Formats: sequence, C-alpha cells, structure tokens
Amino acid sequence: MESLCLLLLVVGAFAADVVDPNTCTTFPCLIFNDEFDFLDHDVWEHEITMTGGGNFEFEVYVNNRSVSYTRDSTLFIKPELTENWKGDGFISSGELNLWGMNGRGDVCTANQNFGCERVGNAIDVVNPVMSARLRSLPGFAVKYGRIEVRAQMPRGDWLWPAVWLLPQYWPYGAWPASGEIDILESRGNDDYGDQGNQYGGTTLHWGPHFPLNFYDKTTVHYVANDGSFADSFHVWRVDWTSDKMDYYVDDVLVMTVDPGTSFWDFSGVESEGYGYDNPWVAGEKMAPFDQKFYFILNLAVGGTNGFFPDEIVANPAKPWSNTSPQAFLDFWNGRDSWLPSWEQGEGRISEGAALQIDYIKVWKMTSVDE
Ligand SMILES: *[C@@H]1O[C@H](CO)[C@@H](O)[C@H](O)[C@H]1NC(C)=O
Repeated sequence: MESLCLLLLVVGAFAADVVDPNTCTTFPCLIFNDEFDFLDHDVWEHEITMTGGGNFEFEVYVNNRSVSYTRDSTLFIKPELTENWKGDGFISSGELNLWGMNGRGDVCTANQNFGCERVGNAIDVVNPVMSARLRSLPGFAVKYGRIEVRAQMPRGDWLWPAVWLLPQYWPYGAWPASGEIDILESRGNDDYGDQGNQYGGTTLHWGPHFPLNFYDKTTVHYVANDGSFADSFHVWRVDWTSDKMDYYVDDVLVMTVDPGTSFWDFSGVESEGYGYDNPWVAGEKMAPFDQKFYFILNLAVGGTNGFFPDEIVANPAKPWSNTSPQAFLDFWNGRDSWLPSWEQGEGRISEGAALQIDYIKVWKMTSVDE
C-alpha cells in the first residue's frame, strides 16, 4: 500500500492525478487534479470532427500541437485558420477527410452532419477554422463533489469557449434527457452588447425528450469582477451534492439549482400535459444529475444555433446571419472584420485568442454522496 501511494505521488508530480473515490478515507478528498504540466493523453482524448456541436459551428476539431498544447502549466486551445494548414483556396475546393486509421487520437470521433469528411466548393466551404475539443472520456468522470476550474477566456470575435460535462453513459437516453452541465461559457467579442467577453454563463440542459429542454430554469449570466473574462484568470466552482448544485464565480454564488422533489416536477411537464414518460423516475432526487459526467474543454467558433444572436449589435458587425444557407462562407468572407481581433496586432493568431486553463480539480466532499 505504501509503495502504491509513493507511486501515485511520483506520477502525480507530472501527470493528472486520478484517484478512485472509493479509496478516500478523509474529506475533502482530491480525486482529480490536472495542473496541465503536460497534456495527459491517458485522461484527455482529442475529439476529431467537423460535426459542429450540433450547432453548425464553423470549426474543425483536430489533434494538433499548434492548436492544443501545454506551456507553463497551462493548457492552451488556440484557433488557427484551416488554410494555414492546408493552403490558400483549400476550403473552397479541397477535401478534408478526418477518418484516420490508427485509433484514438487519429480517427474521426463524430460523423453526424458530415463530421468526418467534407468537400469544399465556392458556396459550401469546408470549416475555415481549426480548433480543439478535449474530453476526459474514459479517463475521468465524476458524480457529486466539488469541481474547481481556473481559466482565462479568449479574446476574439465569435470565439465560444466552454468547460462543461456530458453524461458518461447517457443513462436516461439521448440529449438532453441525460443532462448537460455547462460550468462556463463565454464569447470572445469585446463589443457585442451584453454578450461580449465581459460576461459569462453557467447552464444546465435537461428535459425528458428533445426538443423539450428546460435550461431556462437553470441558467445564469454574470459580469466579470474585473471587467472581462478575457484579461485574467477566474475561478469557477461547483458544489454538487445529492441535494443541490451551487455555482460560484470567483467565490461569489451565482446560481443554486435545487429541483425540489425532482427535475420532473421542476419542469412542469406533467401539468402541461405533454404526455411524455418521466425518464428519471428510477433516479435519485438530482436525476439526471445523479450519474457520472465527464469533462469537455473546447473552443468553438460561431455557429447558427443562436448562441450569437443576430439582433444584438456587434462592433464590428456580425458577418453572417443565423438563417443564412451559406453561413460558413459569409463568416469567411467577413474575416477582415474578425481576424484582427484574434491577432491582436501580432500579425498572426495571438495566444490572447486561446482558451487557457490553469487547472481542474475535483474533490469528493463526503463519504455519503457516492
Ligand atoms: C498543425 O497545424 C499547423 C497550422 O497551424 C500546420 O502547419 C501543421 O501542418 C499541422 N500539423 C499536422 C500534423 O497536421
């Protein structure tokens, strides 16, 4: 036992620490700690896809150390133009094939919406921006505990960073029945009404059946305590128990989620007579948030689902409309308006446009909430 602990300590000096919560004897018990001294591929898997998160986002997620890398004990996810990889003119004529052949880290992870293979033409261009999305599947998943994330948001128009969790096994069925925990989301714009990098958001998505999603009962929008989430590191914390969830930003409580008897009752679905079955009936009070969830760290770009509303005035103006059939092309043709905000005077994409994560820590707080 002693030598095992020693081994854990030695490994822990460099890698992400992952501890089986069943071995915790004193509390709080640190069960996950990644300080990003290096990119631990045992824990983090790169998603490889153009699927666009179901939102017709403009990025292609790749496994490339120019895009996702660690330095100075910080994880960077920095966008890059696809044409700086594949050459000028590629996105309107080339084929991007992500199928791969060598397993994890090489093979496309999501084919929905032509996520693994696209051919560009003059109107339907291939995803113009490279970015990264990492998931702790199957390296780490958590049910109940304290989660803490210290991160700095990117500065740059139409960048959409997120640190969030999805269910490890989808035990209550397809999205959003099994839930989604968005610890933090932001937008990189300096000047976009009340939706710029001065603001952040935390949201739970849940509902018995798509498209029923009662996230508007469990979402909060807040202002950075120093004026912007893109100028400095901030700390997000979740205290998640079998009874409720408390969300903190820089130690300020921003949202408590306590569904009362159940999320089913909280939703009001029954009284509204939709006629759906309750998928969480066998779960605990917090169902669907009574199961294991894994982390996702990603930097998305744009999209047409309305995360970047058309009706909010942006400066410079939003180059695509969410109803455009050629939103990718409109976005790309508008690059003279947004690319300078990613470059920040450097003539190439700046690390200021990167989502930067200093650490992620998870504690088990008690022995009961297993
Ligand atoms: C990674 O991306 C850079 C562009 O930033 C590109 O030059 C390089 O070829 C890519 N590497 C691989 C292995 O695709």
